[in-house]
Amino acid sequence: MQNKEIKELLAKTAEKGYLLPSEALPLLKNFSEMNLKSIIDFFIEKLQESQSRGVVVKIELVEKILNLLKKENREERKEKGREEIETFLPEGFLQEETAKDWDGKIEVELDPSRYINRGEKITDFIRLFINRYIRLRKIIESKIEGREVEDIEDIQKYSSQERKQVTIVGMVFSKRKSLKGNYILELEDLTGSIKVIVNKNMAEAAHIIPDQVIGVKGRVWKKGVLNAEVIYFPGPPRTKPKTFEREIYMAFISDLHIGSKAFLQKEFQKFLEWLNLKRGNEKEKRIVSKIKYLIIAGDLVDGVGVYPGQENELMERDIGKQYDLFIKYMKKVPNYLDIIFVPGNHDATRLSEPQPSIIHHYIEPLKEERRIYSLGNPSRVVIDGYKVLIYHGKSLEDWNTVLPRRKRNKPEEAIHEMLISRHLSPLYGSNVPLAPESFDFHLIEDPPDIVQTGHLHINGEKRVNGITCIASGTWQRKTIYQAEMNINPTPGIVQLVNMGNQQIFRKRFL
Ligand SMILES: [Fe+2]
Repeated sequence: MQNKEIKELLAKTAEKGYLLPSEALPLLKNFSEMNLKSIIDFFIEKLQESQSRGVVVKIELVEKILNLLKKENREERKEKGREEIETFLPEGFLQEETAKDWDGKIEVELDPSRYINRGEKITDFIRLFINRYIRLRKIIESKIEGREVEDIEDIQKYSSQERKQVTIVGMVFSKRKSLKGNYILELEDLTGSIKVIVNKNMAEAAHIIPDQVIGVKGRVWKKGVLNAEVIYFPGPPRTKPKTFEREIYMAFISDLHIGSKAFLQKEFQKFLEWLNLKRGNEKEKRIVSKIKYLIIAGDLVDGVGVYPGQENELMERDIGKQYDLFIKYMKKVPNYLDIIFVPGNHDATRLSEPQPSIIHHYIEPLKEERRIYSLGNPSRVVIDGYKVLIYHGKSLEDWNTVLPRRKRNKPEEAIHEMLISRHLSPLYGSNVPLAPESFDFHLIEDPPDIVQTGHLHINGEKRVNGITCIASGTWQRKTIYQAEMNINPTPGIVQLVNMGNQQIFRKRFL
C-alpha cells in the first residue's frame, strides 16, 4: 500500500474508534493485494467483530486481519476465473463453426406468466409459505440423510434435564441479537414455533435471514428453547460444470433503460455493431461470430412513473414509444441469434413478483420479425442442455442489507447467498413486492448451470460448486439516485460464457 492509502486506512479506522499501532506500518506497506476500499471495509468489519478492548489495536490482530485478507483475495481470484476478451487467445477448438451454422435448442422450463393467479381471491400468503416450507424441507432432509427430523410440536415435550438432541427444519420467523451478541431465532414449522439460540461464533449465523428455511440440530436447553449445534442450509447445490462439445457463446446483458436520458445510446450502438462483426479485432470477431444467444435480465426500458420525478429524467415519456425503440435496436441484432428476456421493475407488467412477461402488444412487432422468448421474472430455460435461471434481481437490495460490509454491492456474492438459501428472494415485506401465489417461483429447486441477475447495475462473476453466477450491469449512466445511495455502476459491459468450457469474458464499450 502507498503512504496515501495507509493514511486513509488509519483515518477511517480511527473514525470508528480504532487506532492501529505504529508496528503495523511496515506490514501495511508490504500489502498490495486489493483495492483500498475493500481493505478499509474488511478492516472495520473484522475490528468490530473482534470486539477488541482498548483504543489501540494489538499488532497480532492486525497481522491476523491481513492474513485473512490475503486468503480471501486468493479465493476470490480462484473463483472468478474470467478474462477480458481482448487478452484471450482461443486454443483447443478445432471446428470453426459459427453461430449461423448452429440451430440450437431452447426449452422454456419454467415461466411464471402461464401460472400466475389472475384475480382469484387469495388474500394471504399462507399457501405461498407452506409451499416454500414443504419444498425446502425436502431438500434439507435429503442432505441430512439418516437423521430424523422432528416436528417442533413434538419437541415441546422434552424437558431441560434430558438435554435431548433433536433435529428440526423451520422457517426463520425472526432473527435478533442478544446482549451477549448471540443470535436468537424464532423458527416455525407446520406444527408450532420454537426459539433457537445460535452462538455468535458459528460461521453459519451470518447467512441466516428471515423467511428462509433452515435445519437445526441442537439440544433442548429449556422448554421451548433449543441450543443450535449444527445449522443446515438447503444449498448451495452441487452440480458438475456443464460441458458441451461446441464453442458457442451466450451473451448476457441487463438494464438497458431505453427511454431514459441516461441511456448509453452510443455505446449500445457500438455493441450492436460489434455483434454484427463491424467492430473489434480478428480474434474478437472469431468469438463474436459464435455468439448464438442474447439474454437480457430485465429493465429493457426506463418505463414511466416508476419513481417520483422520473419524467424529468426521460428522453421518451411514452412507454409504447420506449418499447418501439427497444424493438428498433433488437432488429439490429443478427438474425441467427435467439433473444431471451424477462421484465424488471421498470418494465410494462405487474410489479409484484413473480412478474408475468412484458405486456404482449408492446413486444408483438418484434415477435413477427424474429425468434424471441419474452418470459416472466424469474424464468428458467434450458439452452442446448444448459439450465439457465434468469432473475431481474430486485431482491439484491434486500441481500445487500444482510451481507457483510465488504460483500455489499457485489451482486455475485448475493447470488452465492441465493444458492445457499436455494431461494432468490426469501425476505418478505421488504424491497421486493411479492404476490400471494400458491407456488413459490423464487425457490431454486433443481440446480441450474447458470444464474443471471441484473438490477444493481454492477457486473460480477463467480463460480459456486460448478454453477456460474453472472451479475449483469447496465447501459445507463450513473443516476442521481445511485450517487445518493453510493452505488458505483459498471455500465457498457457485455459478459460472454463459452458453452464449450464455461469460460467467462467481459467486453467493455465505455
Ligand atoms: Fe431494476
